[in-house]
Parts: sequence; structure tokens; C-alpha cells
Amino acid sequence: MLSTRYLARRISSRPVRRFTHSLSRYHSVSENDLAHFSKILPSSAILSTLSPSSTAASELAPFNNDWMNKYHGKATTVLKPRNTKEVSEIVKWCNDHRIAIVPQGGNTGLVGGSVPIGDELIINLANMSSIRSFDDVSGILVADAGCILQSLSDYLSGHNHVVPLDLGAKGSCHIGGNVSTNAGGLRLLRYGSLHGNVLGLEVVLPDGSILDQLSTSRKDNTGYDLKQLFIGAEGTLGIVTGVSLLAAAAPQASNNVMLALPKFENVLPLYREVKRQLSEILSAFEFIDREAYDLAVKHGQGRALDAADVEGAACFVLVETSGSNREHDEEKLNTLLTTLMEADTPLINTGVLATSPAQFSSLWAIREGLTEAMSKEGKAYKYDISVPLDKFKEVVDITREHIRSKGLLHPDAVKHVVGYGHVGDSNLHLNIVADAYTPEIEAALEPFVYELVSRYRGSVSAEHGIGVMKTHALHYSKNAESIEWMKRIKKLFDPNGIMNPGKVLP
Ligand code: FAD
Ligand code: MLT
Ligand code: ZN
Repeated sequence: MLSTRYLARRISSRPVRRFTHSLSRYHSVSENDLAHFSKILPSSAILSTLSPSSTAASELAPFNNDWMNKYHGKATTVLKPRNTKEVSEIVKWCNDHRIAIVPQGGNTGLVGGSVPIGDELIINLANMSSIRSFDDVSGILVADAGCILQSLSDYLSGHNHVVPLDLGAKGSCHIGGNVSTNAGGLRLLRYGSLHGNVLGLEVVLPDGSILDQLSTSRKDNTGYDLKQLFIGAEGTLGIVTGVSLLAAAAPQASNNVMLALPKFENVLPLYREVKRQLSEILSAFEFIDREAYDLAVKHGQGRALDAADVEGAACFVLVETSGSNREHDEEKLNTLLTTLMEADTPLINTGVLATSPAQFSSLWAIREGLTEAMSKEGKAYKYDISVPLDKFKEVVDITREHIRSKGLLHPDAVKHVVGYGHVGDSNLHLNIVADAYTPEIEAALEPFVYELVSRYRGSVSAEHGIGVMKTHALHYSKNAESIEWMKRIKKLFDPNGIMNPGKVLP
């Protein structure tokens, strides 16, 4: 095994190869375009600083700036179509007039993909939020792309089903955005990825035509599976307008427990033991390092555990079970906790078991609130990387040491280097929380982090995508031949390059 110091020495910080994207080949939205859009949409669905709309620029701010307030666009116009036909008519006009488009869902993306680079037209899907159909026998749901994940979840819970996806941004993100980013989230361990759970899509292609692949069959083996191309395409190949999704039967019983561990090295043996004992009822296994936990508590995410439960904890693991028989599940969980606590060399210090729905939510709030806690603490540089499970801590430590060696680990520069993530998916969230976003910190982190990841043969994006943030780093996880094929596919669907330019591909 390579030691922390050894790796830190070997990884050089070459200057970042940033690709700046020129938008000069596109036309800005003009008053003439606006006049055309107002034949398609009611005035309430058009926000524009151009005349005659003359919306105040401040009203466009929530669409032009991303969730982290890190990426900033200069769009003059946001359109909010109400149905697929309207999307199609707008896109056709844009293609004919070479107007670049940014498709936008809930704008919770963390890689700058959902906001313009310049003054591209924003097409926001918020007005397309109807559930088209649900079959409670097959569990197949068909919904508009602009449905908010939480609304789908609420709807399905009334029909004894759950969305096979859950994430901290559920109150704002759209199912179309989830599909377009191939979001992973907190329960991928149980339900698998959207590449398996999305049964069909309806997509408006860059020429305005509508590709209807809204299948409601679980099996379709008729050649190329085109919908897969749009899952994770981040709006670069078309606008997803409808989604057919396989919902899962709602668990009859859910439990969770926050385990405090004396050292990181216990995480893997713990995961092995938890899988062995809980097997089919295990639905989440989430890792939080101590510094991340402390920040969640500092910023009021969930209820802090008792001091005695956190004393001596190097890190935490949140385990969730979901099953169909409460007594059976509780018995399994209790047996697990007893064996863990009574072992000769216990893997955990303590376990805080939720005994009420409020406690269940509060333990989840600590985990789900980490993203917000980082943002409240400062400006977070976020790396959603895939690395081998046993390297989670090593990656965080090496990065911290590297930042220290650059003289940047102090309250006026980098305040924290923390890790949390989805153990079941080998997905570490490495967060470097700084006082401000500065070129100096970015130069210290990139390509350092990407080179570190590629050394472990990991991925520079396990779940948030490439957006504008990582176009220059794509080559660390995709070889030249793969990138070339991606470019060919892009060209095939979008020969004029109007769809989310400057995102995903360098
Ligand atoms: P947006 O941010 O609006 O867009 C994201 C990308 O998709 C952009 O490139 C955009 O152009 C494109 N897009 C959006 N809608 C469409 C459409 N209809 N058609 C074509 N392209 C479209 N991500 C995870 O994977 N796992 C997590 O656990 C997770 N947790 C999060 C927690 C918090 C608190 C926050 C703020 C974010 C989190 N994210 C997570 C990131 C983000 O929420 C997801 O990427 C989410 O899927 C984005 O959905 P959205 O509707 O907000 O999309
Ligand atoms: C998470 O797992 O909490 C999300 O992917 C968001 C984040 O990385 O902060
Ligand atoms: Zn995540």
C-alpha cells in the first residue's frame, strides 16, 4: 500500500488545463425571437430583461446562478413551457436561429451544468409537473420531467410505492434533472441506478423533433437502447420532457441507526458484517467523517447526538433497513448491534438507534444536511469521486496535507477538508471548504485531485456529472477513443451544437 506521504510527494500540481468555451457562434436572444416565443407561450411563462417583457434582472438571478453560487450565467431570457409541444416549437426556432439553450430543472446541480456560461436561453421545466399515469400493479409511473422529486415521492407513498431514488435536494430537484444527471443518491445501494429504473423517456431533440421512447414495459430488447444516451447527458443531447420510471413497493418498516466508530479502518469490516447480518433489509450505508459530522451539527442539521455517543468517534456510519416485517427487521438490527457491541474488539463505540419517526428523520437530517452545512460554513469545492472503499480516508488526508503544504490550510483560505459518502457505491464526497472561491485554491486542487483519483483508477465523477466544472478533467476517467465517440454522438444529435454548449465535452 502506498503511504500518504509517498503519494503526496509523487503527485505534482501541474497547472490546470482549463478549456474556455467560445459562444461566439451562437446568436443572443433578440426582441424578434421574444416576439416569436410570445406566440408559443403566455406572457406568464416568459421572463426576459428584453423589451417588451422587461423583467427585472434580479428576477432572473435564481435561474442564472447555481445552488452553490459558484457559477454565474448572463441569460436575458428564461422560458417556462407547459407541455412537450411548446418545448418542441421553442427548440426548433432556436436550432433554426442558432440560439444556444440551457435546459434547467430545479437548478440544484453541483457542477455548473444547469446555468448558462454566457447569455444562452434558459428553458426551465418547472411548469411541466403533471403525473401522466401510475399503475399500482406494475409500479410504473409516467411523469412530466418537471415534477419535483419530493412531489413524486409524496404521490407514490399514497399508493404504497417509493421513487427508487432519494437525495438531499429532493425538495427542489426535478425528475428530469435527476435523469439528466443520472443522480445516484442515498438509496442506490437498495434500488440500483437510474440506468436500470428508467423504463422510457420522451425527449425533444435539438432540431425540435420529439423522440417518443416513453415505454411502460420492463423488457424491450429491440436493438439499441437509445434512452440510455440521455441518462446522464446533462442536457447536451436534448431536453427530457417525460419519464417512465419503475417505482418500488414501499417498505412496511424502516429503521436507522447512527454508528460511531473509533477509527476509519473499521468501516470496511463493519460494512462486511452489516451486509452479512442484515442482507436483504439493508437499504443504506452512509459514511460521515468526524469533521463533516461536526459541521452538520454546527449548522443545525438534525439533532446532535449525545456527547457520550460522539466521544472518541473518528467517523460515523448511518445504516438504514427497509423491509416488510417490523418485528423481524428490528430483531435483526438488535442482534447486529448486540454482536457489534459485545465483540472482543468492537468495531463501533456506540450506536444510536432511532426509536420514533422523528428520530429516524433527525438521523437522516444529519446525513442529508451535510451539503447545506458545507455551504453555510464557506465556499465548498466539491469532488464526487469513485475510489476504492479502503482509500476514502487516505484521499481526504492526502488532500489535506497537500493543501497544508501549499500554505493554504488556515481560516482565511481553506478551513476544512472533509469526507462523506455512499459506501455501498464506493463514492466519496471530498469537500474542501474555503473562505472564498479563489484561483489559488483551485490551482492547488486541480489537477491534483483528478490525478489522485486516476492513480486509484477511480472516476472523477461518481454522481454529480461533468457540467462545466470538469470538462477539462474528463480525460482522467475516459480514454481518448471514448471521448471521440462521445463527440460523434453529440454531433449526430446536435450538429449545430445548440444544446448546453460548453458542458460535458471539452
Ligand atoms: P438541474 O440542476 O437543473 O440540472 C442539472 C443538469 O441536468 C444540467 O446540465 C441541466 O442542463 C440538465 N437538465 C436538467 N433538466 C433537464 C431536462 N429536463 N432535460 C435535459 N437536461 C436537463 N446528486 C446526486 O447524484 N446524489 C445526491 O445525493 C445529491 N444530493 C444533493 C444534495 C443537495 C443538497 C444538493 C443541492 C444537490 C445534490 N445533488 C445530488 C446534485 C443534484 O441535486 C442532482 O444532480 C440532481 O439530479 C439535479 O436535478 P435538478 O432538477 O436540480 O437539475
Ligand atoms: C450527497 O451525497 O450528500 C450529495 O451527493 C451532495 C454532496 O456531495 O454534498
Ligand atoms: Zn452523493
